[in-house]
Amino acid sequence: MDIRTVGVVGCGLMGSGIAEVCARAGYATRVRELNPDLLHTGQQRIERSLQTAVERGKLEAAERDAALGRISGTTSLDDFADCDLVIEAATENPQIKRQTFTELDRICPPRTILASNTSSIPIIQMATATQRPDKVLGMHFMNPVPVMRLIEYVRTLTTSDETLETARAFGTSLGKRIIVSKDRAGFIVNFLLIPYLCEAVRMLEQGFASREDIDVGMMLGTSYPMGPLTLLDYVGLDTTLFIADILFDEFKEPRFAAPTLLRQMVTAGYLGRKTGRGFYDYGAGEQPPASR
Ligand code: 3HC
Repeated sequence: MDIRTVGVVGCGLMGSGIAEVCARAGYATRVRELNPDLLHTGQQRIERSLQTAVERGKLEAAERDAALGRISGTTSLDDFADCDLVIEAATENPQIKRQTFTELDRICPPRTILASNTSSIPIIQMATATQRPDKVLGMHFMNPVPVMRLIEYVRTLTTSDETLETARAFGTSLGKRIIVSKDRAGFIVNFLLIPYLCEAVRMLEQGFASREDIDVGMMLGTSYPMGPLTLLDYVGLDTTLFIADILFDEFKEPRFAAPTLLRQMVTAGYLGRKTGRGFYDYGAGEQPPASR
């Protein structure tokens, strides 16, 4: 099956990145947000990112304009009626996701593949909210989407071979490398990443080392581009906590248990870069070691 038109549900950090890479790869791209303000903010984010790509010499100005010309915004899922593939990147709430998939199932023609960018919720929960569980899979993009070369695909018990192969060809056409995981909370990447991030917070919480030494240790000791606490600030402490809680619920293993410090920082509103403060206080001009 040929994919020509892609719908993206949500134009937040992940949705806007997904829409950008689809449009850059030549796909007609529709992106849906809940209201015009959110849509405008998301579209501005896409424009800024495309501009950065031009400034970094990754994209010609004409390609930027062509990509922007391929993206259209909407506040209604009804505009996805002719999409060949829809990628849901809405808020990480299982009820909202199930409802969105039921609606998409009603609106989209039977050929349409429905994918979720969830970082941790088992995909079968979305698949069973539709009449086409064979055409549902996970497509977990990494942040920042235009830069990270991976998409983690999640195959459920019901995903068909044809759906997986069509999606694989699509992902490859975006210039990404595809890995495939079975449908279990955390998939491959977050199953490994979240315990590592939680351990770094526990280490700080126990006063074992300073935040800088924890970060520099992993950056210079293992060539990670960012230390774990900087990465937590980048991904968002709330997002990390949410994923840790899902993993703990599923596996009941201490390695997934969110540290008290992480939970308290989220309660305090220290969510990382997006609120100006996380493990580093960006509002006060602090720079994590990765950017020094
Ligand atoms: N479009 C295209 N390319 C861009 C771009 C854009 N908008 N913005 C930057 N780039 C390119 C740059 O030109 C540069 O390319 P080069 O290496 O060929 O010169 C490259 O991307 C890196 O850009 P910068 O130099 O601006 O930035 P840094 O070198 O400081 O790297 C970073 C920034 C890519 C964020 C890096 O620090 C990194 O990889 N950090 C780790 C990110 C990570 O781990 N992400 C995954 C998080 S987990 C996740 O997402 C799962 C979720 O479920 C939690």
